[in-house]
Amino acid sequence: MIKLTFIVLGIVCCFSDGIAFAAVDAAKAKKFASKKMCLACHAIDKKLVGPSYKDVATKYKGDEQALSMLATKIIKGGSGSWGPIPMPPNPMTEKQAKFLVEWILSM
Ligand code: HEC
Repeated sequence: MIKLTFIVLGIVCCFSDGIAFAAVDAAKAKKFASKKMCLACHAIDKKLVGPSYKDVATKYKGDEQALSMLATKIIKGGSGSWGPIPMPPNPMTEKQAKFLVEWILSM
């Protein structure tokens, strides 16, 4: 019984940590984006402080550089792609940032 509890705990831990999936898990990505405050400035389909994620996906469709370029921009912040308002840095690992970019670009 104790062993079983550990197994269950192990599974729950893996899922709640969550960022290690190859395919984009939209529900998980959205939850992570909201935890990281992305959704305070971005909405899926309308412009807030920053561009809508659908607009971002359209802009970079077919752009092979976009994944790593956007991941770096999320981490370091920056401006000039959509207007004068800068995005502040959002500290996280590159893997986490790429996870978010994959989600955004899949819209
Ligand atoms: C304080 C507001 C704010 C927050 C918080 C924020 N952003 Fe942004 N974001 C912006 C603005 C403003 C821009 C437009 C920057 C520009 O014109 O280059 C932007 C641009 C972007 C872009 C497009 C960049 C480009 O060069 O085309 C992506 C992708 C993005 N944000 C993702 C995220 C993610 C993911 C998070 C959460 C980790 C996040 N943003 C948090 C304001 C924000």
